Amino acid sequence: MRKLDKLPTHIGFIMDGNGRWATRRGMPRKFGHKKGADVLEKIVDYCFSLGIKYVSCFAFSTENWKRPKEEVDYIFSLLREYIKNQNNKNKAKDNKIKIRTMGDLTKIPADLQEEIIKIQQDTCKYDDFVLNIAMNYGGRDDVVNACNTLIKEGKTNINEQDISNALYTKGMPDPDFIIRTAGDVRLSNFMLYQSAYAELYFTKTYWPDFSPKKLNKALQNYAKRNRKFGKVN
Ligand code: IPE
Ligand code: IPE
Ligand code: MG
Repeated sequence: MRKLDKLPTHIGFIMDGNGRWATRRGMPRKFGHKKGADVLEKIVDYCFSLGIKYVSCFAFSTENWKRPKEEVDYIFSLLREYIKNQNNKNKAKDNKIKIRTMGDLTKIPADLQEEIIKIQQDTCKYDDFVLNIAMNYGGRDDVVNACNTLIKEGKTNINEQDISNALYTKGMPDPDFIIRTAGDVRLSNFMLYQSAYAELYFTKTYWPDFSPKKLNKALQNYAKRNRKFGKVN
């Protein structure tokens, strides 16, 4: 791949299409989620190997509770496995990756909450690379939660920075580039406040078929974009 001179500092993935990928193959949706989790691990490693510092991925939305319980349980079992693997293999620690989450964790299974607290404590000192996993996350919930935090702090006359500092992404820069797989052209409640000036990229590829090569193509597209932020050039 040719040198990418303009890499995003923060990339976000809306990992969509697991279910359709499996259905097309005549398999239950869970196979798509399983393959999707493997792809996530590969893509995250690849992003960090390129030198992208912040990677956010949308694993479960505040709306995904509307799915059948069996599917919800399976997605959380994959997340549990993913976090446990990071804990057991010391993968995050060895690679000095800080693991963060965003979303209301109080609603997710208690044992997964414990694994998350452990990995967050173990990796909080690292600052080279940050993996931010969105679980029970909604952009609207993020803003509502931030408002309630500011009210509790007794803040009045709040400004944009105050809100940014109260979001789940506190301390992280806004995403520069958001990729959504599987063909739908919408954000589905992902980082609504933070994505005000994100460059968006949509591909028809289902998430389980996404690959470093496809990511390179997206990054080449990103590198060509003229980010104006309201200015003339
Ligand atoms: C994305 O794939 C994964 C989650 C939302 C957890 P989907 O499960 O939404 O797959 P499709 O969109 O039904 O194909
Ligand atoms: C968005 O995908 C949520 C995640 C990728 C976790 P959905 O499949 O839930 O989005 P909609 O329902 O098509 O908008
Ligand atoms: Mg979907």
